[in-house]
Amino acid sequence: METKVLHFLSLVLLSVFPLSPSFTPTDNYLISGGSTTNISLYNRVFISDSTKPGSSYLSVDRSIPLNNPNPSPNSPTLYHTARVFTGSSSYKFNIKKNGTHLVRFHFSPFAAQNYDLSTAKFSVLVKGSLILRDFRAKNTVVKELILNIDVGVLEIMFRPGGDKGFGFVNGIEVFSAPENFIVDAGARLISVTGDEESKNLSSQVLETIQRINVGGLLLTPFNDTLWRTWIPDDDFLVLKSAAKRVQTTHPPNYQEGGVTPEIAPDNVYMTAQEMNIDNATLNARFNITWRFPVGSAGVGHLVRLHFCDFVSVSLNQLYFDVYINKYSAYKDLDLSSLTFHVLSSPYYLDFVVDSDDSAIMEVSIGPSDMSNPLKINAILNGVEIMKLVNLEVSETWSEKRNIWILGGSVIGVVVLCLAILALVLVFKCKKKPRKPASAESVGWTPLRVYGGSSYSRMSEGTVNTSPGPNGYHGLRIPFADIQLGTNNFDKNLIIGSGGFGMVYKGVLKNNTKVAIKRGVPGSRQGLPEFQTEITILSRIRHHHLVSLVGYCEEQSEMILVYEYMDKGPLKSHLYGSKHPPLSWKQRLEICIGAARGIHYLHTGSAQGIIHRDIKSTNILLDENYVAKVADFGLSRSGPCLNETHVSTGVKGSFGYLDPEYFRRQQLTDKSDVYSFGVVLFEVLCARPAVDPLLTREQVNLAEWAMQWQRKGMLKKIVDPRLIGKIKPSSLKKFGETAEKCLAEYGVDRPTMGDVLWNLEYILQLQESGTSREAHEDSNITKIEQHVPSSSVRTEEEDVSGGSDITTSKVFSQLMTNEGR
Ligand SMILES: *[C@@H]1O[C@H](CO)[C@@H](O)[C@H](O)[C@H]1NC(C)=O
Ligand SMILES: *[C@@H]1O[C@H](CO)[C@@H](O)[C@H](O)[C@H]1NC(C)=O
Ligand SMILES: *[C@@H]1O[C@H](CO)[C@@H](O)[C@H](O)[C@H]1NC(C)=O
Ligand SMILES: *[C@@H]1O[C@H](CO)[C@@H](O)[C@H](O)[C@H]1NC(C)=O
Ligand SMILES: *[C@@H]1O[C@H](CO)[C@@H](O)[C@H](O)[C@H]1NC(C)=O
Ligand SMILES: *[C@@H]1O[C@H](CO)[C@@H](O)[C@H](O)[C@H]1NC(C)=O
Repeated sequence: METKVLHFLSLVLLSVFPLSPSFTPTDNYLISGGSTTNISLYNRVFISDSTKPGSSYLSVDRSIPLNNPNPSPNSPTLYHTARVFTGSSSYKFNIKKNGTHLVRFHFSPFAAQNYDLSTAKFSVLVKGSLILRDFRAKNTVVKELILNIDVGVLEIMFRPGGDKGFGFVNGIEVFSAPENFIVDAGARLISVTGDEESKNLSSQVLETIQRINVGGLLLTPFNDTLWRTWIPDDDFLVLKSAAKRVQTTHPPNYQEGGVTPEIAPDNVYMTAQEMNIDNATLNARFNITWRFPVGSAGVGHLVRLHFCDFVSVSLNQLYFDVYINKYSAYKDLDLSSLTFHVLSSPYYLDFVVDSDDSAIMEVSIGPSDMSNPLKINAILNGVEIMKLVNLEVSETWSEKRNIWILGGSVIGVVVLCLAILALVLVFKCKKKPRKPASAESVGWTPLRVYGGSSYSRMSEGTVNTSPGPNGYHGLRIPFADIQLGTNNFDKNLIIGSGGFGMVYKGVLKNNTKVAIKRGVPGSRQGLPEFQTEITILSRIRHHHLVSLVGYCEEQSEMILVYEYMDKGPLKSHLYGSKHPPLSWKQRLEICIGAARGIHYLHTGSAQGIIHRDIKSTNILLDENYVAKVADFGLSRSGPCLNETHVSTGVKGSFGYLDPEYFRRQQLTDKSDVYSFGVVLFEVLCARPAVDPLLTREQVNLAEWAMQWQRKGMLKKIVDPRLIGKIKPSSLKKFGETAEKCLAEYGVDRPTMGDVLWNLEYILQLQESGTSREAHEDSNITKIEQHVPSSSVRTEEEDVSGGSDITTSKVFSQLMTNEGR
């Protein structure tokens, strides 16, 4: 990438129609080292670092300016001069905006006077952290860092190595990145250890290693929205004949709240490589593989893959798998559902990869099990690889810093700036008039209604005009109260994150503990989910459903406030955390609670709601381990009674997704039953629904557990911590119940009411013999009366068929109990 820079720049300079980027960074410092004049490059002006001594950015000056006596005519003027550092020297920039910034250093060595810059060896420190250590630039090199910088003075120091050593720089860029350029949520961790949570990305220092326009041409800073350079991918393809370049003439469909042109420019999304499938290879399944050198082994990298499906002619046609370093990184990638069901819409995925010893990052794409055999394909539009830089704080810097603090003057300036800023902010907030309710609701759309008498109520008006008798307006919470209750969205209060945004723990004015779900500020991503959730949650209250305490839609915020669930998601009590294992009885009680909640959604007074995303992270536990179902963001009103179906885009989580729903896009409440079946196995086996690091047949829990269940050997895969603690009858019935939930066709699956009944029966089976033994936990009420005494005769003989006989009787009893 680096050696080609000169060539790119010559192209750039010949360009007649430079693209003017629309993004204007708040902080924008462009410095030309050693020049006496300002220099224009890529439509931007690099300021001379020697102007007006005293007001210059160069603060500790043991340096000299140097001119290249024989500059190459094609090289940009920025590279005709350099600043040479004979002792430690610093640039200081006044940063006005907190958050992610890009910092670029241009090094283009030449020889002049007594200095041959290609022999220079030096270190570069940013904010006191060693960014480049004993660095040498033999050729033109652009080093790009992406890091979080707070408001205040940013110091960049050049420190020559050795006694007579020196350092140099031709140009420096420091500018603020667009909002959400690097986000903490959503990155997948790919590593041997198999963690699945993302790292704390936005607070890491990243160094750009590769930036590739897959299937496309070289893109210069002129073509790019953030003045980046993207190079073609051909040289990295392992087998060129596996891939075929494709391109489109239509600009990508950027969507509000989705990827912006600053994430990657149009040109990246308008070209791709796809699988080269001709008649000879029609039935062959193969991968396209790229191998990117990353320079250093054994360090973490952020791998960002860009996609834009302009090859499909219709939605949900393309499914493919993504591998990084031979690990499954994303299975059955379905861009249609990730891009709100719009084709040619850009999307990117972040992966954090612990690289191996090879110093190579291998990326592969290939057909997935879900690919339509007649439309096998896989695409990739762009790749960025950034190293996670491990920072070392330099000793000399700390010494200097102490002196600096003693001097105090700079700190004083910073404090003053912050104070002024704070004043301005406070003033602004105070002045902002309260928007009238109708204005706040702009952008709300009527809830979609799918027939059935019970919904006609909903169809009468939009949410904002017809809040209904138990109106949502009473649930509105002022933004200021939420700010106060979360210590202004203190990072330390983050308890989770999801597609919607961050979730904070907070306290309301009345001292209620709450969970606060905040949509990415300013973005309207997830607005439909937001509306759905308010509409649905505001009208249902149930002991086993997480209730909505309020919401806020002020200042383009989308915030939902829920009751706080002390013990967090069920999942974290099953595996992957230090929580003590739950007993079998506790697990059954939790399943029963969740089943009640879902059953209520399907049949209760709110009626006909399909959750669509049942999984162990959406079942939360309160301080007494009472299960409550959460996250109705994907819910839709479902069909009533009769078996008509609702066709919407496939949404949900992999590993839990009803295959029938997937194939036929036919949504019924039986899809929730399927997902719940997966949860049941998860509870029994204490492993994730999908674990890409396991062997092929074990990856998918539903498939794997069903194999053992069919063989009648379910007990072989039971959570080891439960071995010997589950009664055979209880286990047998549990296995059968889960199996029925996972039936291929919805019609063959039990209703949630049946499942609930079965679970209570299973608990009964477990308890019946042990009732005289010591109870591990006795804070539940007995539900023996639900089980006909005849069916508890002996443990072994009754396990089949027991569910059907008395279901309806028990069922009606349950309905009256739950239909509050
Ligand atoms: C990128 O910009 C260069 C010059 O600025 C131009 O020649 C080239 O055609 C552009 N490439 C694309 C793909 O637009
Ligand atoms: C360079 O630009 C800066 C900022 O625009 C200006 O203050 C300065 O006078 C310019 N210097 C020269 C040498 O033109
Ligand atoms: C910037 O971040 C610092 C520390 O993280 C914080 O104290 C300050 O209030 C923030 N400033 C703004 C304008 O957000
Ligand atoms: C993220 O990293 C920053 C700095 O390294 C640290 O202060 C913060 O606690 C981290 N946050 C989380 C959630 O790990
Ligand atoms: C593939 O086969 C079809 C008919 O079998 C033929 O019309 C077409 O030209 C072939 N394509 C290639 C690339 O060989
Ligand atoms: C694609 O590559 C992955 C990882 O190396 C491998 O597991 C998979 O079997 C390959 N798929 C095909 C169809 O070759």
